[in-house]
Amino acid sequence: MAFFSPFVWASLIALSQGLPAGLSSCTRELLETGANAYIQAQASGNFSILQSSSSKNFTYYENNNVSNPLAGVLRLPLKIDHSRTTFDTVQCSTYTELISAGSKNPYVLGTQIRHDPTNGTLGISVIDTIASTTGAWLFNASKTLEHVLQESWTPLPPDKQVARDVLQATADAYLDMWSNATASNAVAWGEPCTRLEGSAYTGTGSPTDSCKPGIPSNHHQAPNIHRRYVIDEAMGSCTVFCLWQHMMNAADSHEFRLEGGKLRYVHTMTVCPGQTCRL
Ligand SMILES: *[C@@H]1O[C@H](CO)[C@@H](O)[C@H](O)[C@H]1NC(C)=O
Ligand SMILES: *[C@@H]1O[C@H](CO)[C@@H](O)[C@H](O)[C@H]1NC(C)=O
Ligand SMILES: *[C@@H]1O[C@H](CO)[C@@H](O)[C@H](O)[C@H]1NC(C)=O
Ligand SMILES: *[C@@H]1O[C@H](CO)[C@@H](O)[C@H](O)[C@H]1NC(C)=O
Ligand SMILES: *[C@@H]1O[C@H](CO)[C@@H](O)[C@H](O)[C@H]1NC(C)=O
Ligand SMILES: *[C@@H]1O[C@H](CO)[C@@H](O)[C@H](O)[C@H]1NC(C)=O
Repeated sequence: MAFFSPFVWASLIALSQGLPAGLSSCTRELLETGANAYIQAQASGNFSILQSSSSKNFTYYENNNVSNPLAGVLRLPLKIDHSRTTFDTVQCSTYTELISAGSKNPYVLGTQIRHDPTNGTLGISVIDTIASTTGAWLFNASKTLEHVLQESWTPLPPDKQVARDVLQATADAYLDMWSNATASNAVAWGEPCTRLEGSAYTGTGSPTDSCKPGIPSNHHQAPNIHRRYVIDEAMGSCTVFCLWQHMMNAADSHEFRLEGGKLRYVHTMTVCPGQTCRL
């Protein structure tokens, strides 16, 4: 199948909504343990490292497709040149951005991890990875790394944080721009604001850098559906994975950072499985 079946999508959506009893046991420390185990597993190409922290009902998705974790990118030991994790204690999930810029297996990965806290014990129930490499949209891992390292993603002081629904509203409005002519009015555009799309950077270092140039002018494209969210208020971050139908049914990751409620950074990864992405 090219993407998740409706059944699987329904359960993923169920996972990302509501709050089953017992989720109060979801702490940042436990989420951090899971994310660090994931990074270690990817660095060593050894999925076994994650098995002890996985729930019995574990599913691995790679590029929007149910996959075998022993056959996908997790089997490759990657030198980790950069990693950054955001934490969503409400949905009991994390998002990790990983870059491996080596020439042998260059990768820029976005990974959402969801936990299933049965009986007070966290277990990883879902690893959902967008694995971009050569052939992905505007892919160049070393160039992406250069740009990422120039940005500042420190936790926000309380007066610059906004509520998770505000973060999600801008993320959704942004992703709606392909199918909705007025959605851009609902994006909390900031200045400066820079977009890193694959390795392509819109920033010039100017205080007036804007994220508006190049936004969609054709609003009759397929909507970006099957959205899965990880939201971290302290980081001002909302990450959305989705199905990018208007580019070859690609698997897509968009991460948005808002500072003081205004859009500051956008990072994207777009993978056209088995093919080179083109418009
Ligand atoms: C998804 O996985 C199935 C089963 O492993 C495979 O046949 C199919 O080619 C995959 N699709 C994509 C888009 O990777
Ligand atoms: C993979 O990790 C497991 C669990 O930590 C460990 O027992 C095993 O030796 C590792 N395998 C390799 C090839 O390093
Ligand atoms: C196991 O996970 C699948 C997919 O996420 C879900 O549909 C199913 O309900 C889960 N089963 C149990 C027993 O939690
Ligand atoms: C829940 O955890 C307690 C304490 O570890 C254990 O005694 C109990 O059997 C567990 N219940 C289930 C349903 O796993
Ligand atoms: C990737 O970017 C680096 C650094 O900007 C550049 O030196 C290199 O030529 C690029 N590689 C490709 C394949 O375009
Ligand atoms: C388009 O976006 C605007 C602004 O967010 C919203 O008010 C409107 O309901 C959207 N229209 C549709 C059809 O979703």
